[in-house]
Amino acid sequence: MATARTISSLARTDRPVAPSGRKPAPDCTLVIFGAHGDLTKRLLTPALYDLKVAGLLSDGFRIVGVDMADDTLEGWIEGLTEMMEAFTKDAAGEFYTPSLNEEAWTWLKERLSYERLDFTNPDELKKLSAHIDSNAVFYLAIPSRFFAPAVDALGASGLTKEPEGGFRRIAIEKPFGTDLQSAQELNRRILDVVKEQQIFRIDHFLGKETVQNILAMRFGNVLFEPLWHRDYIDNVQITAAETVNVESRGSFYEGTGALRDMVPNHLFQMLAMVAMEPPASFAAEKVRTSKQTLFESILPVKPEDVVRGQYTKGEVKGKSVPSYRDADGVASDSVTETYVAMKLEIQNWRWAGVPFYLRTGKALSNRRTEIVVEFRRPPLTLFPSADTHAPPPNRIVLNVQPTQGVTLCFAAKKPGPEMRLSDVEARFRYPDFFNREPNVGYETLLYDCLCGDATLFQRADNIDVAWSSVEPVLESWRSEKTAPELYEAGTAGPAGADELLARDGREWSPIDQKS
Ligand code: BG6
Repeated sequence: MATARTISSLARTDRPVAPSGRKPAPDCTLVIFGAHGDLTKRLLTPALYDLKVAGLLSDGFRIVGVDMADDTLEGWIEGLTEMMEAFTKDAAGEFYTPSLNEEAWTWLKERLSYERLDFTNPDELKKLSAHIDSNAVFYLAIPSRFFAPAVDALGASGLTKEPEGGFRRIAIEKPFGTDLQSAQELNRRILDVVKEQQIFRIDHFLGKETVQNILAMRFGNVLFEPLWHRDYIDNVQITAAETVNVESRGSFYEGTGALRDMVPNHLFQMLAMVAMEPPASFAAEKVRTSKQTLFESILPVKPEDVVRGQYTKGEVKGKSVPSYRDADGVASDSVTETYVAMKLEIQNWRWAGVPFYLRTGKALSNRRTEIVVEFRRPPLTLFPSADTHAPPPNRIVLNVQPTQGVTLCFAAKKPGPEMRLSDVEARFRYPDFFNREPNVGYETLLYDCLCGDATLFQRADNIDVAWSSVEPVLESWRSEKTAPELYEAGTAGPAGADELLARDGREWSPIDQKS
């Protein structure tokens, strides 16, 4: 069933309807800067294929791969085909499907072109006009240092000028800046060239079904929202625990660290979904404004409410992992954090006094992305004999990945003559209700960008305010240069993270429990 957002964004056109009931995106040339990059191979190409299979691309859709690498169209296609075939066979991957749909893949291949050019050079970019009829999306799947120069060059080449009745859009990946100042500067440079409505700033967490489901759960039911505030909720924990280490990304990660890599972007998007007020409608601007109001209510994070860690060598899921400082591109005395935990306070009527605890880290013992909403205890003890064995407080766990669903944890009477309570669970799991469709998480984002629906994209002010919340922490790290606490790879992170909650008389939900 289509969402209100999708219906409203498509109602303007009379495009034919796909089998899914949604309409194919308008005719458009998608120009991908960074055609040889990992993102293009692993995510964009499979997502485009999935959109084709779903009937959501129109016949007038074209793709131009742009890269500085010396390659031919045939070479590029061959590389993509090999990758796609490998993905379809990976039973553990998100793109697993019995075999590649040859018809859909051929359709897509016939629409590919390749241009070897320098995307920071306006004269070279002019070559692209031969591939564009009217509408175009320029997708910057390139390292962030090229974002501003590429947008400047696009502007100077004239390609960002929207034709009568058509559109020219720019999709930008993360990281969007490395702090408040650099994000503001990047926004300023981009907005000198194009209007806000032409920019689609991507946070791929918003492409995840389970993240979108948080809004569906809160605002598509009456069960949860009446409890969703300070009178009933004790605290909220947002976790993105990863087992992967920095692997070959050391040189990127060394200048970034866990906070910049995950917090003001991915974790804040999950925070927004769980804590924002219901928007006036599901229109892009209303949703983004609601998020903005929430972000503006977050008090600047206090450096003493933040713990950072760095992994040392250890074993993750039976595989030995070298210490972070031994990774390629990382300094042997690096103080970059690979783990961060923090407490946030939101100063508004709904959340005042409810702490939000956020944590994320690499090389941990388990992969688990989830939001745990922990409720207050009942106001009085009706079952004195049960009290000494009181189960934990009620919790709603929004399972983002790898488990996808929602878990409701509450107390039930343990069978037997005594009134004893025990913690039990009611579970909703996606595969129990829905067919598994290949989905890499970029399908909705690409489709929405082609249709001009910015609901799942970040506005300039959303980005700036998120950076300003964490700015005091970055500032204190810049001035103090203290080392992060070490934790062994394959554990749950540094002890300081537990102490952060213990200070408030609370505990983290364990990352190792089975889902
Ligand atoms: C990326 C970060 O944005 O998100 C990575 O740069 C991180 O460091 C990744 O591993 C996590 O995304 P996902 O979808 O794998 O949970």
